Amino acid sequence: MEYQAKELFAKHDVPVTLGIVANTPAEARAAAEQLGTVVVKAQVKAGGRGKAGGVKLAKTPDEAEQHAAAILGMEIKGLTVNRVLIAPAASIEEEYYFSFLLDRAQRQYLCIASVEGGVEIEEVAKTNPDAVKKIDIDPGSGVDEEKARAIVAEAKFPEALVEQAVQTVLALWKVFVEEDATLVEVNPLARLAGDKLEALDGKVSLDENADFRHEDHAAFVIRDEEDPLESQAKDKGLNYVKLDGEVGIIGNGAGLVMSTLDVVAYAGEKHGGVKPANFLDIGGGANAQVMADGLHVILGDAQVKSVFVNVFGGITACDEVANGIKGALEILGDEATKPLVVRLDGNNVAEGRRILDELAHPLVTQVDTMDGAADKAAELANA
Ligand SMILES: Nc1ncnc2c1ncn2[C@@H]1O[C@H](COP(=O)(O)OP(=O)(O)OP(=O)(O)O)[C@@H](O)[C@H]1O
Ligand SMILES: [Mg+2]
Repeated sequence: MEYQAKELFAKHDVPVTLGIVANTPAEARAAAEQLGTVVVKAQVKAGGRGKAGGVKLAKTPDEAEQHAAAILGMEIKGLTVNRVLIAPAASIEEEYYFSFLLDRAQRQYLCIASVEGGVEIEEVAKTNPDAVKKIDIDPGSGVDEEKARAIVAEAKFPEALVEQAVQTVLALWKVFVEEDATLVEVNPLARLAGDKLEALDGKVSLDENADFRHEDHAAFVIRDEEDPLESQAKDKGLNYVKLDGEVGIIGNGAGLVMSTLDVVAYAGEKHGGVKPANFLDIGGGANAQVMADGLHVILGDAQVKSVFVNVFGGITACDEVANGIKGALEILGDEATKPLVVRLDGNNVAEGRRILDELAHPLVTQVDTMDGAADKAAELANA
């Protein structure tokens, strides 16, 4: 979020003013009493907050309180605003755009800079593409002072700001590298009265793969902003991603689960357009507890109408998986209310299928092929 990005900016000497985070209109008023004229800014992990009415100038503490009351609870791109940043109002003369990001397609880093900032950069790229400069960055050499000067020259920062811009580019590069970010974006990077350059907004994406060397990054996780099902799954150590569909998915192995999402989406086209509800890879240990944990999370998703369990027995054989499903249904008891379509194949498949046949659970349907099972699960979700 912006206020967190600004903390990282401050840590690496990017010029920035932190402001005060408020969770209630009363807190917003108190912050404004301290700061004077302020801007009340919705804190959500989405762009276009200003356009959505989530950024408002307040000249008095009264106004700050009113704006906060209006903005808190507002929805921006499907996200509820739970906090606002009360930032001292700056007197802006010009707005620029600046970012460093990982360019996966080119396998290198990319700097995007424009002196036509403030508004959505995607729009500027469409209407005035020449104003948006894209500068490749060799990951080996990175950004030293010479490169920073080249970036500032290419972006055409005004003469009076060149030295500050070079220092800011170097500081933002430090944020990008030292924090293991995949995106560092400032829009607007503003020219304030008196030719002062300052980051008035900030967006940082951190690479979770590098979390092990950034213990302090854990503090940026805001529990109440996470999807409740995803945080529940995380607590259980499950690889779960919530999607927007009706067919719950459990599989073993990320590749199998990915292709399961595809076949379910395809099958769904014939069954009222139902879609996969989630990604869930239970990996190698498909025992009863893991299966029960997975089903518990998926059944907690009110949108789910059916569940497709797609398992290819490898090191974990199909009979273990079948016993896992059996045990999970016992653990869940009355909580298991939605139909399960199970497709087992691979190591010890005959025994696995026999166990489920013998169980003859009213919610469980076995289908031998992946396509057939996807079709059945989609049909049940649409019923
Ligand atoms: N501290 C401030 N003082 C004065 N004006 C501000 C301040 N912060 C932001 N603004 C103005 O509000 C506009 C929108 O603010 P900001 O860039 O933070 O949000 P946004 O661009 O709408 O959101 P996002 O960047 O997430 O799309 C800025 O372009 C700037 O003109
Ligand atoms: Mg912005």
